[in-house]
Amino acid sequence: MRINDKLVAKRLAALGVELRPGVSLADLTSLGIGGTTDQLPIRRYETLPEVIRELKSEGIPHKFLGGGSNLLVADGELPWVVLHLPAVQPGVRIEGNYAYVDAAADLGGTVTFCAKHDLGGMEGLIGVPGSVGGALRMNAGAYGMQIGSYVREIELYRAAEGRNITLSGNDVRFDYRHTSFAPDDIMLRVKLELPSKPYAEIVAAIRICNEKRRSSQPLNQKSAGCIFKNPPGASTGRMIDELGLKGKRIGDAMVSDLHANFFVNVGHATCDDMLQLVDDVRARIKTAFGFDLENEVIFWKN
Ligand code: EPU
Repeated sequence: MRINDKLVAKRLAALGVELRPGVSLADLTSLGIGGTTDQLPIRRYETLPEVIRELKSEGIPHKFLGGGSNLLVADGELPWVVLHLPAVQPGVRIEGNYAYVDAAADLGGTVTFCAKHDLGGMEGLIGVPGSVGGALRMNAGAYGMQIGSYVREIELYRAAEGRNITLSGNDVRFDYRHTSFAPDDIMLRVKLELPSKPYAEIVAAIRICNEKRRSSQPLNQKSAGCIFKNPPGASTGRMIDELGLKGKRIGDAMVSDLHANFFVNVGHATCDDMLQLVDDVRARIKTAFGFDLENEVIFWKN
């Protein structure tokens, strides 16, 4: 979708938004798949409600792009523009056991920054790609921990109210890869309460998680992490593996040889290739094990 009206572009510029025309979402997502649209970086998130009001009044649909690490985007010219909050380094401020973190901050960078201030708890998240905002929305977790456990306060844009609001951590439900945020809420900033731990201890735990991850996940290939959630009491990766589907390929979309719940883009996979592979594997799991697999990855249709 293109914003061709110069007056609209001018009004957006007055709100601090410099339009980036015709960006490829393949370049902005870890899967390397996705079509083209205009991108609107929101430099001052106080202006977000006004920017969205402007887009609404002009009938311009929008989506919000975080770190792009858990996303499968349709190909071709996309029928919505994307908003995103550019990251400012380091995006974290520490006060005692509290870390105040911008949603745009890199998740791994945040874990390391907190570690340097002797604050731990999030070691398991070190290799999870993406932004803190994305991790909050999905309640990212690994190796027995999840980010939601540390959330004390969240500032977000609540689309239903058209304004930025602050919620207490207790007002939000954090379940397995699911939260009670509305789909169109946009995370802005979070206050985390983290346990004190000596830096050396945190680094040792981070090293162990890193090694586990490197040996079991295809970190050097284009992927969106695990493509399906695990059903209660079962491991999707193990089930796909047991069916001998590692290496199964449709076009350039392939079931990883290393971890069967990672689907990788080994060249120029299209969104269709990936969706066909997802549907095929889902159907085989249903037949063999009786589970209806739920997507872990978010899908943006055109
Ligand atoms: N397994 C296989 N073959 C495979 C993959 C896994 O046999 O191809 C077996 C493993 O050997 C292990 C079991 O399945 O016995 C579970 O595997 P793993 O420890 O890799 O955990 P997972 O359940 O597949 C979950 C999260 C990951 C997270 C890891 C580590 C989900 C969907 N996945 O994977 O998160 O990194 O645990 O804590 O919950 C993500 O969210 O994108 C993600 C990758």
